Amino acid sequence: MTDVKVRRIDFQFDDDIPFRFNPRNIGASDWVNAATLVAPEFEGHFIKVIRGVIPQLSGTVRHEADLFCKQEAQHAKHHIAHQALLLNKYPQLEDTRDKIHASYTRLLDEESLEFNLAYAASIELCFGPATRFFIEQREHLFSGGDPRITAFMLWHFVEEFEHRNCAIDVYNAIVGRHAYRVRHFWRTLRHLQNAFEIAAEGLDACTPERVSFRGMLAGLITGASFSGMTRLLLTLAGTLLPFHNPDNLRQPEWATQWFADEAMGKDMRLVEL
Ligand SMILES: [Fe+2]
Ligand SMILES: [Fe+2]
Repeated sequence: MTDVKVRRIDFQFDDDIPFRFNPRNIGASDWVNAATLVAPEFEGHFIKVIRGVIPQLSGTVRHEADLFCKQEAQHAKHHIAHQALLLNKYPQLEDTRDKIHASYTRLLDEESLEFNLAYAASIELCFGPATRFFIEQREHLFSGGDPRITAFMLWHFVEEFEHRNCAIDVYNAIVGRHAYRVRHFWRTLRHLQNAFEIAAEGLDACTPERVSFRGMLAGLITGASFSGMTRLLLTLAGTLLPFHNPDNLRQPEWATQWFADEAMGKDMRLVEL
């Protein structure tokens, strides 16, 4: 795995960005808005949990854990900027954001360090296959959408793919019990699903058309091939295996090109699909 790079890209969240960024895929638009309400909360949670154990880490794992936290902080910063745009249009979403925040505060206050590290590791492991799928599905998700939101979300996906090893490496160094992580996997997924359901409920009150968790999922898989869906499900299941190595996931060519373009100094703030 190459070094995780902290990129500070000046994404723009201007007032003229539509509330639903892609009229061609309403489910995906609602999911992006829900992710913008949920992601800064779990990213903040991961940063707090992992920062707390960095003094106990050494070598590459410690170095990568630090870069992971810095990268996630950039993601959270831009999601919060996007959130401000949504809250400006629908101030009642503040209540939704606060409910999601409270659910992550409870995790920190009431659960053990082992559970919180397992939570971060399991979710981050799932982001490897999931972001690869989203990048490969980019036409279905983003075609016809606002190029500022498209660029912002695809940046988040490629960086999630880039740092896919970090949280499991930290978990293995501090906790190391594979069975413990697997035992708590469904509880972890249910907690994350619940956060997205809170977001869907809040967004539902903002639009005349129904917003639901199921509708968002449907928007994400719209147009996916049978082989693409099968690969996604198999690779997600693979994250539960004891010998799973996120490095073995093949990097999408689009992501390789994105990394090369960014390294060459190309402006990554607009992506039109
Ligand atoms: Fe992130
Ligand atoms: Fe991440």
